[in-house]
Amino acid sequence: MKYLVTGIDGQLAAAFSRRLEKTGMDFKYPRLDITDFDGVMEAVGAYRPDVILNCAAYNFVDKAETERAQAFKINAFGPALLSYAAQKYNSALVHYGSDYIFDGSKKSPYVESDLPNPLNQYGKSKFAGEKLAMETGARTLILRLSWVFGPGRQNFIHKLREWAEDGRALKMTDDEISVPTYTEDAVNVTLKAVQGGLSGVYHLTNSGACSRYEWAEAVLKELGLKNKLERAHQRDFDLPAKRPGFSAMSNHKISAELKIHIPDWREAVGQFLNAR
Ligand SMILES: NC(=O)c1ccc[n+]([C@@H]2O[C@H](COP(=O)([O-])OP(=O)(O)OC[C@H]3O[C@@H](n4cnc5c(N)ncnc54)[C@H](OP(=O)(O)O)[C@@H]3O)[C@@H](O)[C@H]2O)c1
Repeated sequence: MKYLVTGIDGQLAAAFSRRLEKTGMDFKYPRLDITDFDGVMEAVGAYRPDVILNCAAYNFVDKAETERAQAFKINAFGPALLSYAAQKYNSALVHYGSDYIFDGSKKSPYVESDLPNPLNQYGKSKFAGEKLAMETGARTLILRLSWVFGPGRQNFIHKLREWAEDGRALKMTDDEISVPTYTEDAVNVTLKAVQGGLSGVYHLTNSGACSRYEWAEAVLKELGLKNKLERAHQRDFDLPAKRPGFSAMSNHKISAELKIHIPDWREAVGQFLNAR
């Protein structure tokens, strides 16, 4: 099985790189702009991968409010182009979606049949990417992730460690609920889904759900840090992008189809922090 991975410097792509190398898989990480038509067609045409893993994305949720064109170019046009190339060269496409396509009005975990209604430009661009990738005609698997963490700097755990360094009190929202998802678990499940020949839309998260407050509390405890934690509301931060209050997704569908158990988010956080 040949894999072409995009988004080389991102946290999920890095996890794939470690895993594919370790397991002796045939893979390529071209330094590829996924919005460059010629570059994409050449890279896919030359390597003819069985699977394209699209880990590239525009992930700046607040900046997307003012950089809408850039967000849509990368998150919507990019996957459409990869899907087009995948179809032409007979590859399958795995593309990653986001929990921010939901509006948070539900009170129980979102399932795949729930209707998206994104509240912000990032979510809109991610939803457009899903639709375009599916419509372009390649065999496509959309895996929706949430609150991704792993080695790297662009994630909540890294930022929390930085904020906690000087021992100050930290304010965390308790009205923002989703599922922290470990890159290693996302890689495990993706590879099983590819081997199982899945296509269509699936939610891929660790199990359970929590607020930012609970997530921060678990991380500080695991690290033995004594920072005082204060409960806050989203409105206290006045961020440019509106976020869903509740965007936890259920991984039941993919777990049942692959006959697997995806670890609880607390277990995954513990594994990550103890692996370093
Ligand atoms: N991180 C989360 O909490 C989260 C939550 C839900 C869903 N997701 C989705 O999960 C997937 C993986 O996320 P991640 O956390 O691994 O993202 P990440 O760490 O932000 O990595 C994304 C990478 O894509 C690169 N990139 C941006 N534009 C590109 C382009 N035109 N061509 C090629 N590469 C480009 C970025 O490079 P630069 O840094 O140089 O721009 C970055 O290295 C994405 O689809 C993301 O939307 C993530």
